Amino acid sequence: MSEIKASKDELLRITGPASLIIEEGKALILGAEYEKGDRIVVRRTRTLCMKVLEDLYMRGIIGEGGKLERPAPSDEVVDNWMELSELIVSAESKPTIILVVGPVESGKTSFSITLANTSYYKMMKTYVVDGDVGQTDIGCPGFVSASRVNSRILYLSDLKPEIMRFVGYISPMPNPTAVSSAIYDITNNVVTAGAEIVIINTDGWLNSLESIMAKIGLVKLVKPDYVITLLPEDYTWVYNSLKRKLQGYCGRIIRAKSPAIKRVRSRAERKILREQAYTRMLANANIVKLSLNEVSFINTRLFTGNPLSRSEIEEISRKCNIKVVYCEVAGNHAIIIVDDTDLINEGRKEKLKEVLKCNMVEVRRKGWEKGLLLAVLDENLNDASPGMLKEIRWDSGEIIVKTSYTGKITAIAVGCIKLREEKENIIEERKFRGVPL
Ligand SMILES: Nc1ncnc2c1ncn2[C@@H]1O[C@H](COP(=O)(O)OP(=O)(O)O)[C@@H](O)[C@H]1O
Ligand SMILES: [Mg+2]
Repeated sequence: MSEIKASKDELLRITGPASLIIEEGKALILGAEYEKGDRIVVRRTRTLCMKVLEDLYMRGIIGEGGKLERPAPSDEVVDNWMELSELIVSAESKPTIILVVGPVESGKTSFSITLANTSYYKMMKTYVVDGDVGQTDIGCPGFVSASRVNSRILYLSDLKPEIMRFVGYISPMPNPTAVSSAIYDITNNVVTAGAEIVIINTDGWLNSLESIMAKIGLVKLVKPDYVITLLPEDYTWVYNSLKRKLQGYCGRIIRAKSPAIKRVRSRAERKILREQAYTRMLANANIVKLSLNEVSFINTRLFTGNPLSRSEIEEISRKCNIKVVYCEVAGNHAIIIVDDTDLINEGRKEKLKEVLKCNMVEVRRKGWEKGLLLAVLDENLNDASPGMLKEIRWDSGEIIVKTSYTGKITAIAVGCIKLREEKENIIEERKFRGVPL
């Protein structure tokens, strides 16, 4: 059990794991106030900075790997972040849209929380849009999510997703436009719902020409009033590039301080965090059986062409010496599902082309779809909830999906992320090459 004392205006930097109770005094953490009786839990690998508002006495535990530091104010970002937050929330015109950009581990999420709390304390209708598809805090990896801030928050994961849009990748790189349009769609929705402050937290892809183009494309779509950049020293060139590209733009581009002392989460740690999110969203979801006649698949080439009849399929199977389970043709493009024991080689593909009179033939094995992350869509074709594809039953025309959505599902959008359910309902992410179909 540790005892911590600090006087007014002092800063305490706590790295988790730690669990502390305030016995006396008051402190500001990420724009929110904490006082006697409040417990502060700092998760492993996370660092929080407390500014003492009234002489503080805390008791608790700092676990292995955790630490307590007393940084000089000039080494900390608190004052800069609070000043900026106050400036933003006092802007006259509402809604105020704030885009937070910066590389990985630059403080985007922590700054977004600080601004969200400041705005919440001013009683403004505040929304956070989580646009980091790889390290989501609010929703599910592969999705952009948003939530209203209805209480002070210490973590973005304290928020529950109220609206989600599917991107289908855990990185913005394969399809930056999909990320931008998901963010744009959600921002419009929360503005229509009466948001006064919309804080858009973005992914950390900001180290290349392409990544800067992607962020400029995002600015062009959402037209933020503020672009807050969190950039370490060696990213000054990025700041200059953004300033140059947006030189005539009426929104303000501001460089906020980025915390100097950071812990970088490893690739493996990031994957574990994603898996925890899939598990939260899907482990206890329901198994739903849907009919291919009633539910359409979007964002996949599959189910676009005309399906062949059973007798036509039998004929192809015989001629090509392969067990075809399903076949559809769109113009001169055929999509074929074969029995998973069949060997798919070039010779067989050539034979299929000849028999089907198609010059493009794509072949997948039955069962290839198992585990694909997907979104279930409502009748407005809005992504309603995440799901996991369990099986397509080709003979009965049924799709088995795991999702917690209980409304009517009209369509399914599949992504490029594969999941596997392990024992005790733990969901793992697996590498998946290319597009599913
Ligand atoms: N004021 C701070 N001082 C030191 N480290 C901090 C501070 N605020 C946040 N951090 C730590 O810096 C790391 C990156 O912060 P985070 O807000 O998650 O950045 P991003 O969202 O850009 O990846 C995290 O480990 C976080 O705990
Ligand atoms: Mg983040």
